[in-house]
Order: sequence, then C-alpha cells, then structure tokens
Amino acid sequence: MRVLVIGGAGYIGSHVALEMMEAGHEIVVYDNLSSGTKQNLFEGERFVEGDILDYERLRGTLAEGYDGVVHLAAFKAAGESMLAPEKYARNNLSGTINIINAMSETGIQRIVFSSSAAVYGEPAYVPVDEAHPTAPENFYGFTKLEIERILAWYDRLKGIRYSALRYFNAAGYDVRGRVRGLERNPANLLPVIMEVAAGMRPELRVFGNDYPTNDGTGVRDYVHVNDLAAAHVAALERMVRTDESLVVNLGSEAGLSVLEILEAARRLTGRAIPATMEGRRPGDPARLVASSTLAAEKLGWKAKFSDVDTLVSSSWGVYER
Ligand code: UD1
Repeated sequence: MRVLVIGGAGYIGSHVALEMMEAGHEIVVYDNLSSGTKQNLFEGERFVEGDILDYERLRGTLAEGYDGVVHLAAFKAAGESMLAPEKYARNNLSGTINIINAMSETGIQRIVFSSSAAVYGEPAYVPVDEAHPTAPENFYGFTKLEIERILAWYDRLKGIRYSALRYFNAAGYDVRGRVRGLERNPANLLPVIMEVAAGMRPELRVFGNDYPTNDGTGVRDYVHVNDLAAAHVAALERMVRTDESLVVNLGSEAGLSVLEILEAARRLTGRAIPATMEGRRPGDPARLVASSTLAAEKLGWKAKFSDVDTLVSSSWGVYER
C-alpha cells in the first residue's frame, strides 16, 4: 500500500514509518519539522516538508493518491494545553479537520489516528476498557476526543474509515537502534529520567509519593513505541480487509510506578539519577492501566517490548553520552 505518514519525522511517527516499510508499504512522510527532525527520516521514504495548516499543500500531496493516511502530527503536552488552548485548537483540531477534508476531496478512504488515553480523564475503574466513559481532564484530551467524534461522522457521511488508537503512555526507542532523534524539551517521565541520567538536566522531580499505590508514586501503562508502530500497520491492514472503523486502546496492561522506572533506570544505566519528591501534579490520576483485550481481538495485537528493562535500555541506547 501507499501510505502518507503525517508527522512521520516525529518520535512515534518515525517508528511507524519504519514498521510500515518493513511490512512492505510505500511511505511518504509529511511533516513540518516543528517537533520532528530530519534525523528521523530513513532511506526508502520520500519526504514532503509541509504543515497540516497549509490546506493547499496538504491537498496537493494527498491528490498524488494514497491507500491510507496515518496522522500523528499533534501537540501532546497535556499541561501546556491548559495554558495555551489556542495552539492545541489550531493544530490538533483545525489541522486534523484539514486532513480529513483533504482526504474527502481527494477520495482517500482510510486513516489511522493517534488518539490517547487522555480521552478517558480520571479513571472510574481500572483496567480502563473502551467502554469506559470519556471525560477528558485536559484540553489536549478534549482535542483527541473531538476528532474521534468528527471521524465517526465522516465515516457515516463520507465512507472514510478510521482507526482511532488510544495510546496509553508511549515510551522507549526502536529496539534495533534505528531511531536516534531526541525529543526536544520532553515532559514525559522516561525521557526526563534519561536526560537526568545523561547529565542534560540536574534531577528528576517525582510528582507525588502519597498516592494509594504500592510505593506511593503514580502508576501508568507504558507501551513501547515498536509495539505501537506494529498496531498502526495492523489497523491499516484491517481496514482494507474489513472496511470497518475501530476505536481501540493500546496498552501493555502492566502498571509501572515512577519509582519502579527510576530504579530500573539507575540499575541499567549505572548512573545515580538524583530525584526529589514533590507534590502531586494537578490532574494526575493515581493509576491508569489499559485493558487491551479489544486490540488483541480485532488486531491480533499484544505488546511484546513493553517490559521495563526494554523500555529503559532501548531509550538509554539513544540518550547515553
Ligand atoms: C501525559 C498526559 C497525557 C498524554 C501523555 C502523552 C497529563 C495529565 N497526561 O500522561 O494526556 O497523553 O502524557 O504525552 O499530563 N512524572 C514525574 N516527574 C516528571 C514527569 C512525570 O513524577 O518529571 C510522573 C507523573 O506524575 C506520572 C508519570 O510520571 O505519574 C507519567 O507522567 P507523564 O510521562 O507525564 O505521562 P502522563 O501524565 O501519564
């Protein structure tokens, strides 16, 4: 298949593009390089530098003809989205509407959309399955949920099939070491720990150690990017086979606490990694873990690389200096 990977020079997008090529698909990457980097482009891909807010360029690119689109070109810092909703509205909402409208105009029928566990908000029960109520706690999660709703309408009205993949906590780097581009100003736990280990920042601030969890720190479902990437390929191929849309969680179903990851990082890097205990970060649930039963059933998907050692060591392979 010929696939346009929008955001394909980014952290998750670069892994998706690699996995798609490995599965035999022809890849064009469309990226504005705002968080992505040319370092994340690979031999065999064609690259179009473009913005999803540039409707003409987007439509012109899509008009070249594609069997499917993967859209991973969104801002993802939940905290920032509460301070700068305009930025998230413009890029994550308007930009995605541009993609869907350009697909509709050019007759492209399939999209894999990067959604998020942030659509659920504070979990009412754990593990969280797809039937869990959606009540985002931050504007970022709201943008993801709104796009899912728009996609459902375009499915009905325009026959565009979609797979909304609700990622839990994406983490790790390509287990074969092919992706080397570092995220700029990361806010997520594992890259922050890696930056401390590499001497790029002084310490880890642990946001809360009084949660009702085993060691008091927050528990999340970390899912390796290679696992996520495999699910994108499976989702696109399934849409061709079944002509059906899908909304599905992608998680490892394992919960890891902040301290468990920190201890694994100290052990595997051999670095001290100083950490200070701080107060809770507003909006952070104690424990967020996925049920991925539906992904197993519909996509034949299961996380394979999402154990703590693989998450940490694949990241350290890129950060070590
Ligand atoms: C966050 C977003 C989520 C988004 C995801 C991907 C929030 C509330 N949620 O998930 O919507 O989809 O990122 O970008 O922002 N932690 C520390 N110190 C740090 C960083 C994190 O202790 O410097 C802790 C957090 O409190 C949490 C865990 O590590 O318990 C994971 O945090 P993080 O990587 O930011 O992801 P989430 O907050 O789960």
